[in-house]
Amino acid sequence: MTQPAFHRIDGTLYVEGVCANDLAAQFGTPLYVYSREALTAAWHAYADACAGRRASVHVAVKANSNLAVLNVFARLGAGFDIVSGGELARVLAAGGKAENVVFSGVGKTADDMRTALEAGVKCFNVESIPELDRLNAVAGALGKKAPVSLRVNPDVDPKTHPYISTGLKANKFGVAFDDARATYRTAAAMPHLEVVGIDCHIGSQITEIAPYLDAIDKLLELVDQIEADGVQIHHIDVGGGLGIRYDDETPPEIGAFVRTVLDRIEAHGAKTGRARDVFFEPGRSLVGNAGVLLTRVEFLKPGAEKNFAIVDAAMNDLARPAMYDAYHAIEPVAGRNVAAQTYDVVGPVCESGDWLGRARTLAIEPGDLLAIRSAGAYGFVMSSNYNTRPRAAEVLVDGTHVHVARARETVAQLLAGEQILPD
Ligand SMILES: Cc1ncc(COP(=O)(O)O)c(C=O)c1O
Repeated sequence: MTQPAFHRIDGTLYVEGVCANDLAAQFGTPLYVYSREALTAAWHAYADACAGRRASVHVAVKANSNLAVLNVFARLGAGFDIVSGGELARVLAAGGKAENVVFSGVGKTADDMRTALEAGVKCFNVESIPELDRLNAVAGALGKKAPVSLRVNPDVDPKTHPYISTGLKANKFGVAFDDARATYRTAAAMPHLEVVGIDCHIGSQITEIAPYLDAIDKLLELVDQIEADGVQIHHIDVGGGLGIRYDDETPPEIGAFVRTVLDRIEAHGAKTGRARDVFFEPGRSLVGNAGVLLTRVEFLKPGAEKNFAIVDAAMNDLARPAMYDAYHAIEPVAGRNVAAQTYDVVGPVCESGDWLGRARTLAIEPGDLLAIRSAGAYGFVMSSNYNTRPRAAEVLVDGTHVHVARARETVAQLLAGEQILPD
């Protein structure tokens, strides 16, 4: 068996053929490091399970929108799932094709719709009647017909963190299940829209298949009703959301997940004599475990109640712990012969919520390098400049080659768009 992309040699962390210590020395910290091999392997897990079936994979750009990362997927023939005009620009700059793009999102602007229509995206995943009205008007003004799918809220519980559960009645997303049939009739009657599909996305970091199957069964029931009304549904988009292992989670293996979903939809197609295309929109499960965030220990600070390891990465670099109470494994890059202690690993930002890991047992000294694992998804993309902290650099390792995917930001860049008052 080949070595995993992230592995240790004599106790020191390597990313493919490159030592993490060397990466930090050359590019500084905090530093996001992605493995091309890990990205490619995750892609193949999806693509191989889809092979020979009417299924395609649209990478959710929001999870990691770095151009080099998107380019890896574009070269592999990926489609993309976007939520803004900015993400469309990224996909095109990374070598993706508009005709393989689905446009999701609850608040698309008229400008974004226009740009996407002109580029020729495959489908708009629409979430409300006002959005249908807007898209119909924008398409009409351009003399085009917009391909649409309605994002239906199937009201199933994905059993994940409330902030990343999106398919419940109480969430802002999608058309309510009970309104969906009528909304399809409304969409079908609009002159500048063409109904092509149906979609849902029930949440993120989902570690069981059952909620997907519940959602799919509800969608299929609806598809039969919509088609009985004379509106053809050519594709079913099951969204993204498959979880990864951050700690001790046991999500289904990607291939098994894909096959189970396809089997369910194909069985319904066989029963009703209607085969349809199936779209997947994975983000986290493609990129999450293909990235780490390297950070250096600045100070070890014994506290009255606990010890703190103050590192040079912060909540502005990786927001997930502060935002979702999320767990990321944190490991020293190299072993050290000192007594292990329990630390809260925290950043330098002036917020008590600025923590990256709690109660971690680590044998470390100031100056040591730590790897925050599983940081490839919703990591850099959620980073900010809070406390006027330039955003981290991103590198993509490919064997023994290191590609600078994004240069470290400078303070000068942060100030560039601002002006003091005139005299
Ligand atoms: C519509 C849609 N599709 C796909 C995704 C990707 O989800 P994940 O990264 O959990 O696979 C999201 C994430 O929130 C989403 O909102």
